[in-house]
Amino acid sequence: MKHLALVGTGTLGKALALRLLASGYSLSLYNRTFQKARDIAQQRSVAVRAFSELFIAPFPVILLCVTDAHSIRALFCDADIERKVAQTHPVILNISTVGPQESERLEAYFQSLGASYTECPVSGGPEGAKAGALAAWVGKIPADFKDRIIPVINCMAANSVQLDDNRAAQAMKVLNNYCEALHLVIAAEAILATQRLGLSAEMVQQALLLGRGRSVYMEVMLQRYLHPDSSVSVPLDIRLKDLALANHLFQTCGIASPYLDYTRNVYQQTMRLSTLPQDQTACFTWLSEVLYR
Ligand SMILES: NC(=O)c1ccc[n+]([C@@H]2O[C@H](COP(=O)([O-])OP(=O)(O)OC[C@H]3O[C@@H](n4cnc5c(N)ncnc54)[C@H](OP(=O)(O)O)[C@@H]3O)[C@@H](O)[C@H]2O)c1
Repeated sequence: MKHLALVGTGTLGKALALRLLASGYSLSLYNRTFQKARDIAQQRSVAVRAFSELFIAPFPVILLCVTDAHSIRALFCDADIERKVAQTHPVILNISTVGPQESERLEAYFQSLGASYTECPVSGGPEGAKAGALAAWVGKIPADFKDRIIPVINCMAANSVQLDDNRAAQAMKVLNNYCEALHLVIAAEAILATQRLGLSAEMVQQALLLGRGRSVYMEVMLQRYLHPDSSVSVPLDIRLKDLALANHLFQTCGIASPYLDYTRNVYQQTMRLSTLPQDQTACFTWLSEVLYR
């Protein structure tokens, strides 16, 4: 039986777990908040209470799907865990978006402990994860582990590209997310304009995606506009974390983008609307009810 460990059963990690289980993998699930891992554990999966329980057999394959590099350090930077990593040599596949700079640091850290570390940030949200339809930017896969890692990537992602190194994989993911964030806000502004012009939702549904101004994120925003719902697909704080990574990347490239500044401000202001977890599409509410009230 193909066995994996998955760390982080939040919005994306939960969807990945369901996909991997449906594809025949057995899973050990670890989440900082145990309840979330226990809630999705079913046949062929077990929720473990202690992170250290993932390092029992040699060369365990461990998928990380947590917020950021800080979360990864919070998990691994502990003398007992580092000793177990050094003993078992895990094969780590990082699904989390951490950015190119942190990727270099994490790669050096895991290599110093004798673990293998491959970046595999993805795009497509929980919907794409459940369907195995994600896009993945893959870093360097050590030759010895290709036969274990590549089938896992192919199970999660319908499209993937192998980059020269881990840093490049994270850089491409951060740039993708910058474009996503911008496209969503642009779509929200366009939909708000149709509302102010008095166009019916039915008419907008037919007309908005007709021309070459359409984007995947215009579809995402339009779906929420047509079918309002408070579920969280891309958490707003994750969107802001990714924009902070884009800001850092642009700074290192000498690019000062007014689009980035404006987009960040829209999501930051949206965050102030509620203390409850919010989806990124809540930016429409901020634009319509606050900025352009
Ligand atoms: N959502 C998407 O559509 C999407 C798409 C592509 C990529 N991603 C990337 O996937 C990763 C996860 O995103 P998500 O949407 O699943 O976020 P999420 O729902 O906010 O989940 C975050 C996960 O990280 C864990 N975590 C946070 N801080 C931690 C810490 N200090 N120590 C241990 N665990 C910690 C959380 O554990 P608790 O449950 O205990 O808080 C939770 O399992 C992020 O890097 C994100 O950028 C997300």
